[in-house]
Amino acid sequence: MRKFRWGILGTGAIAKQFVQGLRSVPHAEVFAVGSRSEASAAKFADKRNIPRRHASYEDLVSDPEVDVVYIATPHPLHAANATLCLQAGKAVLCEKPFTVNAVEAERVVELARKRGLFIMEGMWTRFFPLMEEVRRLISEGAIGEVRMLNLDFGFRADLDPASRLFDQRLGGGALLDVGVYCVSFASMILGQPSGSVGLSHLGETGVDEQASVVLEHEGGRLANLSIGIRTATPQEATIMGTEGYVRIHAPWWRPKSMTISRPGEESETVDAPVSGNGFNYEAAEVMRCLEAGKTESDVMPLDETISVMRTMDGIRAAWGLTYPGEEVAP
Ligand SMILES: NC(=O)c1ccc[n+]([C@@H]2O[C@H](COP(=O)([O-])OP(=O)(O)OC[C@H]3O[C@@H](n4cnc5c(N)ncnc54)[C@H](OP(=O)(O)O)[C@@H]3O)[C@@H](O)[C@H]2O)c1
Repeated sequence: MRKFRWGILGTGAIAKQFVQGLRSVPHAEVFAVGSRSEASAAKFADKRNIPRRHASYEDLVSDPEVDVVYIATPHPLHAANATLCLQAGKAVLCEKPFTVNAVEAERVVELARKRGLFIMEGMWTRFFPLMEEVRRLISEGAIGEVRMLNLDFGFRADLDPASRLFDQRLGGGALLDVGVYCVSFASMILGQPSGSVGLSHLGETGVDEQASVVLEHEGGRLANLSIGIRTATPQEATIMGTEGYVRIHAPWWRPKSMTISRPGEESETVDAPVSGNGFNYEAAEVMRCLEAGKTESDVMPLDETISVMRTMDGIRAAWGLTYPGEEVAP
């Protein structure tokens, strides 16, 4: 495989972790970083021995030696940042959620397709070895027909109106931050839902601090989601079928073991150890696709990313939660 030179767009918390993960991927070079500020780009690059640093996102995407850009900015910036990358001819890995809503996602995907460029949502959970095993077991009918899912993802953050988690202008709230993992997992197992009902608690900054959502899928199959940014939850996922159930142990979104239980049989635990910090798996998928000349991943397809955004739009619409300046679908 040829070497791929990565550019990191944004210097926040997840960019730091991603760079660490990328370092454990053969053929990946952490080549450049771009920031809104020269000082932040320099600090990030110096600390990590990154050869090139750029004092704007525009300069990063104009760097002719960057092959692929990883977008690590707050959600409302994703669409504009991805557009900037694609217009400069770069392949893109964009953090979850792909955008704030489906209208933005459709536009970005349309541009990527028009330009024949690779783009993928960084739904890193899908690429862990255990998730491959989950998909295999379910498709082989190891627990019969899947009928219900129980997924929770909540943590307790201190209320800080300036943090992106609580700031509406930065796309704050549980649904976009952690709910997207649950909606995406439900989509992976059950497909696109036909409807949803949900209740949320909007906190003092106006964002959804916690919510319960039920997704309805074809044939009466249901996914039950509990999410929060002010309430810690066990962070477990249970897939329930007609012939047993699978429990993915906490934290299910960074999975490494599961237990399969069938009536009348002894439970079986499957371990799939994780190498690196986990971000290496999604990065490896991006490079596999680029090497094969593909413009999207089969594991996280673009139409599915759009469908997940649509589902989240529908859930939010029922709560009356919109973001400042957000363009809402007719
Ligand atoms: N996959 C995962 O496990 C995971 C975990 C956490 C977060 N994420 C996702 O990653 C994205 C970033 O999250 P984060 O926790 O890394 O955020 P963060 O620590 O706040 O960092 C975001 C970075 O984006 C840049 N930025 C550009 N415009 C900004 C603005 N108006 N306000 C603040 N920052 C701005 C800044 O970099 P410069 O100043 O250098 O331009 C900033 O350091 C989110 O979409 C989130 O959903 C994913």
